[in-house]
Amino acid sequence: MATLTEQAKNARERSYSPYSHRKVGAAIATTDGKTYTGCNVENSSFGATVCAERVAIQTAVATQGKFTLQEVAVVTDSDPAWTPCGMCRQVMVEFGTPDTRITCMNLQGKSREFKLKDLLPEAFTPRQMGV
Ligand code: THU
Repeated sequence: MATLTEQAKNARERSYSPYSHRKVGAAIATTDGKTYTGCNVENSSFGATVCAERVAIQTAVATQGKFTLQEVAVVTDSDPAWTPCGMCRQVMVEFGTPDTRITCMNLQGKSREFKLKDLLPEAFTPRQMGV
């Protein structure tokens, strides 16, 4: 079984990024032991672009419904490795916990690790909406 970062690296190859030419791959692990992958999907109307992380999370919802995010891996060709954008961090909060682990790795294998609570402190959460 490929590691989460290996899965993210493989998903990155499927990136549809003819505008930025920046390939991003993501893989998520749920607390019930499932994994899902995503890549960035760009659009000629730039605002319709979806990041790799959100594609992976949306795929998980479409496949199994509700879940809790245990870990997220993101692979980019950059040094330092890219961290998730603000919108992706917010979407991670929807399904994650403060301790959800986020590993950002580049193609050289250099990685940085974060907890969701550190990437989005004082987040607006489902709890504030009574969920
Ligand atoms: N991108 C991601 O897929 N994830 C991020 O967290 C940051 C940005 C994508 C969106 C776009 O296709 C390209 O990288 C450049 O912004």
